[in-house]
Amino acid sequence: MIINTELEYKGNLFPGKVRSFSQDVDKIYFHTENGVILQITILRGSVIRFRYATDNNFEKDFSYAISKDGARGYSMLEVEEEIKSYKIITRRLTIQVDKADLKTTIFDKEGNVICKDDWGFHWEQSYEYGGNIVKMSKAAPQGECYYGLGDKPMHLNLKGKRLENWATDQYAYGKDQDPLYKSIPFYIGMHEERAYGIFFDNTFKTYFDFCHERRNVTSFWAQGGEMNYYFFYGPDMQEVVTRYTDLTGKPELPPLWALGYHQCKWSYYPESKVKEVAQKFRELQIPCDAIYLDIDYMDGFRCFTWNKEYFPDPKRMVSELAQDGFKTIAIIDPGIKIDDNYWVYKEAMENDYFCKRADGPYMRGKVWPGECFFPDFTNPDVREWWSGLFKELIDEIGVKGVWNDMNEPAVMEVPSKTFPNDVRHNYDGHNCSHRKAHNIYGTQMARATYEGVKKYAYPKRPFIITRSAYSGAQRFSCSWTGDNIATWEHLWIANIQAQRMSMSGMSFIGSDIGGFAEHPTGELYARWIQLGVFHPFCRTHSSGDHGNQEPWTFGEEVINVTRKYVELRYQLLPYLYTMFWEYAAYGVPMLKSLVLYDQYDLQTHYRTDEFIFGNQILVCPVQEPNSKGRRMYIPKGHWYNYWTREYVTGGLEKWVDADIDIIPMFVKEGAIIPKYPVQQYVGEKRIEQLQLEVYFKLGAKEVSKVYEDAHDGYDYAKGRYSLRTYTFTGKDNEVILQQHKDGTFVTEYSSIKLEFVGLPFTIKEVEIDNVVVDFNSLEIDLVQQTIVVPKDFTEIHIIG
Ligand code: GLC
Repeated sequence: MIINTELEYKGNLFPGKVRSFSQDVDKIYFHTENGVILQITILRGSVIRFRYATDNNFEKDFSYAISKDGARGYSMLEVEEEIKSYKIITRRLTIQVDKADLKTTIFDKEGNVICKDDWGFHWEQSYEYGGNIVKMSKAAPQGECYYGLGDKPMHLNLKGKRLENWATDQYAYGKDQDPLYKSIPFYIGMHEERAYGIFFDNTFKTYFDFCHERRNVTSFWAQGGEMNYYFFYGPDMQEVVTRYTDLTGKPELPPLWALGYHQCKWSYYPESKVKEVAQKFRELQIPCDAIYLDIDYMDGFRCFTWNKEYFPDPKRMVSELAQDGFKTIAIIDPGIKIDDNYWVYKEAMENDYFCKRADGPYMRGKVWPGECFFPDFTNPDVREWWSGLFKELIDEIGVKGVWNDMNEPAVMEVPSKTFPNDVRHNYDGHNCSHRKAHNIYGTQMARATYEGVKKYAYPKRPFIITRSAYSGAQRFSCSWTGDNIATWEHLWIANIQAQRMSMSGMSFIGSDIGGFAEHPTGELYARWIQLGVFHPFCRTHSSGDHGNQEPWTFGEEVINVTRKYVELRYQLLPYLYTMFWEYAAYGVPMLKSLVLYDQYDLQTHYRTDEFIFGNQILVCPVQEPNSKGRRMYIPKGHWYNYWTREYVTGGLEKWVDADIDIIPMFVKEGAIIPKYPVQQYVGEKRIEQLQLEVYFKLGAKEVSKVYEDAHDGYDYAKGRYSLRTYTFTGKDNEVILQQHKDGTFVTEYSSIKLEFVGLPFTIKEVEIDNVVVDFNSLEIDLVQQTIVVPKDFTEIHIIG
């Protein structure tokens, strides 16, 4: 390469003048005089990929993150050459590429600059490793805000921060600590209410600087690989997230029980202890669907084995637990004990499945079992083998879910906490070092586990949990936020992390309720469970070192609070399941930070505590001890306080009473919230009736949905689901409720109980599908304002 000195600055190299331009269907190439190629791919009108080569040479195109099922296709693509630049025009955007220096500027259709290169693409040669350190810098206009990036435990708005993505086992991490377990190199930028997203699909260690080094510049770079990023335009922030999720993949629907309450500890053993804990839930009537076996169920921490002293007959235990509605979830870590008498080890050795150091020896590291070797999950043969290991656990013993931990990968007693950089990986045939494979290792393990559990659980649905994740992991697994601490600050962190993960495409997320390290007070546990039931993954877990963390260990008051909130979660299961369906079908994030919910309200840009659960329920946890309530921001619009039913006008901060048994919670006017009866576990009862809470709104139509299916299995994919779409219209003396039904699934219940909230009149007449119904033939309560109607009505008029 000829390096023109003008193209070098402080060790950085820059693209030279554009020398030629070509187009190949959806790809446009710009070649510079110094061997840089910019390839721009139009995936959709608002989803554009930018990829840069140096030395005229692209790497082989391969990504673990991109889903094959994502939507592709654009309706318009034109390229215009001007004197100083090229213009690529799609239906939503114009991309300008400057001939002098290859800098790009993206405009919307009104000509607003959405994202503009500062230095743009530049690079440094990596003398130590070969290849380049690839860099990108963008102009950061005043007032731009930044969100996303996975599990970062800090203020939602990342402006002013410099962050690193390198999956790390961070026991008892603190606020602002970075990096943590996940590497999700996707952020959302928002300026003047217009949001866009950038996904830097590079698995090397990546860095993001949001106006930290230079006030007007945002940049991102990686220690190797290519400058390869996707740009998503909104302007709606939610659209940015759904487009990113579409590209990196959406999950399948989980079995409904996975959305129930889970109880975990390190560790429940022996069998009698597991049974005792399970039994106590039933005795106290606190609903619970899943119980966990942490590492002590194994024989000397050997994966896929059992400690027969603690668990003499796992199959019997698992089936006895199942009779009582408990699904057993078992942990599986990546480290395989070096032991010639251990079948998993032997199989892996025979097939050469373990990771090796650069010069040939196996990668040896200490984890729970002592010295271990580690499967190379980036090798497709290894994944196939690994998936087969689940046969006994799932098919024979009946375990219902698998929890993958320590998959950053974590290694003990070494300063780096992980593999050395030189370890070799297959990377699906693109052999590389750990520098490139590190951040994807956990996701490939979760993927192999998912394939295995899916194969043996079939025709039921799999359930996987992973600690480490790269973009795209949401296709295979849910996740939790790792080893947090039982402190009030961590309650704040858990709330932020769940919201941030949700806007980073991984909505199926929760924290260790009560905190993993140390021991919560009863009050902290109560406040945490109140938040936890509004996280898609709802599990109490603790290290067990500092006392027990089952709800009953905190006394009567906390038992009652826990029961109240876990019952509420079970009542809200059809609402949560509908949220999940929207996420699985369209990539809609399940938790919406206020900024995601209403970016056009400036007040939301710096809020952290309040969030929207689904589309219509506003939640704000109490995060301080001895509180009788808190101030919170109510977003614009009108809401009902869920507990008092008081009607409030949003767009302002407000004090909300919240004694120890209350979490501030508001329902949007016009919403229709579906509920099931309380059950101790999913499937305990036949659902005899669906309850719909109808929150009155005067004026315009409001739409709500209820998605249902068999709650497990894959019949829904053949159309056997039930999607009810409700349109609510409220007038001074009338309510009109229209129902539209899709899908062929027949729900168990035959009637729906409508419960009106905030109805401004007393019901005088009810008309169902154009027929006035005699009150004597109706189950109607004029005081409570409830009516039971047949489930398949088309239109109901309630007249005052
Ligand atoms: C790790 C996990 C934790 C688990 C423990 C023992 O610390 O994060 O959840 O209980 O290992 O397996």
